[in-house]
Amino acid sequence: MNTLKLAAASAAILITAALSAPAIAQQPSPQEMQRGKDFMQKSMGMMKPELLEKAKALPPPIQQFLLKVAIRHSRHSETLTMRQVMQEILADFQAAAAAIATDNGELAAAAALRVADHALPRGGMLPYLPLEKVNANDLGVLPAMEDAVEGSARRLAAAAAKGDMATAAEQLGNMTSGCVACHTHFRGQPGVSARLK
Ligand code: HEC
Repeated sequence: MNTLKLAAASAAILITAALSAPAIAQQPSPQEMQRGKDFMQKSMGMMKPELLEKAKALPPPIQQFLLKVAIRHSRHSETLTMRQVMQEILADFQAAAAAIATDNGELAAAAALRVADHALPRGGMLPYLPLEKVNANDLGVLPAMEDAVEGSARRLAAAAAKGDMATAAEQLGNMTSGCVACHTHFRGQPGVSARLK
């Protein structure tokens, strides 16, 4: 079997394992499930062997989590990098903050829902994390970070839509903690120059 076929086969096994584990609350539609599975499979097919090996070694709960993310998000990009996706998240995050500060619940809710349904970058998230962090231990923090960012964004949206801006502001704080925690864990300092001693 060539690498691509091997990748597709192992992705299929991982997906089956992930789906047979206790499922995802609020059942997604068959189309959403298929789209998520396709994205996972395609992403694994794009990975170079050094990453693929690590991705395949991840335990089922993490595979299940990554699949859940792929199913839940409606936008799967063919071209955007994670950094580009992050720029979009930042723009929506700022829009939500400005709308809360100006008591505009409708705009805050719409912007927060865009954060929660941000695009997924080409190849998924794993290719953009430091390779040595693609392991069960480091990725084990992802569900908590996802809840801090996307869970808080949804709670923010629900509160803002009802005009409860105090709760929306509190959720904005929780969401920000999610950005901070993930950056501390996975990001490093962007744009460091190789031309400085
Ligand atoms: C799942 C972990 C994770 C979460 C959650 C997360 N980020 Fe990021 N973010 C990253 C990583 C990793 C990078 C570096 C990506 C790269 O350089 O390829 C990054 C980079 C960025 C960048 C690009 C510029 C820079 O300073 O590196 C921006 C802007 C950004 N994030 C904004 C946000 C905002 C706003 C939130 C919260 C609403 C957020 N991120 C939540 C992991 C995360």
